[in-house]
Amino acid sequence: MLVAIKLGGSVITDKSRLKTPNIENINNLAKCIAELWRGGIRFIVVHGAGSYAHIPSKKYGLADGIKNDEGKLHFAEVHSFCEELSTIIVNALIKNGLPAISFHPATFVIQKNKTPVEINDMLINKYAEKGFVPVTHGDVVLDEEINTSIISGDKLMEHFGRTIASKLVFATDVDGLLTRIDGSGKLIRRVTKDNFDDVMNAVGGSQNTDVTGGMASKICNLMDLKIETILANGNYPERIKNAIKGKEDIYTLFTP
Ligand code: IPE
Repeated sequence: MLVAIKLGGSVITDKSRLKTPNIENINNLAKCIAELWRGGIRFIVVHGAGSYAHIPSKKYGLADGIKNDEGKLHFAEVHSFCEELSTIIVNALIKNGLPAISFHPATFVIQKNKTPVEINDMLINKYAEKGFVPVTHGDVVLDEEINTSIISGDKLMEHFGRTIASKLVFATDVDGLLTRIDGSGKLIRRVTKDNFDDVMNAVGGSQNTDVTGGMASKICNLMDLKIETILANGNYPERIKNAIKGKEDIYTLFTP
């Protein structure tokens, strides 16, 4: 089984403070992945950029591309921050005995108007095939329409879900898919074709329209993939271990 796991930026960094890694969470997640690896499960690790990129990207307006040499400098700086975080993740995995190799989207992805048009994943796939753990992440990339744009780790997960992964795991800072995101929400443990409409109604009834809109389209994208997807809280790696092993715990399982 090849699992693509996304370590969310809010789990591996303090999202409110520039370039602040959450070393405890990173080490715990690396340990969890290593244990599963020793049990025969293979991984591609995708991580978010958290406060390494969201804060400066917002400050420089990088989501809408760059226009001049100053913009190129901002782009290079944010990319270098993403590389720094990736090195921390890779080193945590290596320390736990995993042959982790980092791949930076700025060097293998091209987008057009914020949508990937080229993902040169040949080497990632080769390394995975040879028993390495490819690591990649949200990043700034070239864009044919607006010079540069941002690719999220979630987009890369969807790509692996369509290509070589047999399961997707999102380690976020929530317990799974909740009916409401205001703290009063109930966990939806399973999403299948049979309860899909009910789930969309329940999530659609949530108060926060922004997040709901995002979540609804995310669910549709996940259900379009042919493989199982797990949404779990990355602050509790034990839950992720149980979810991947198919044991009951607190998480949401999508079965298309
Ligand atoms: C964001 O990546 C990348 C940049 C802002 C350059 P993600 O969207 O995957 O990161 P998180 O998980 O939200 O932090």
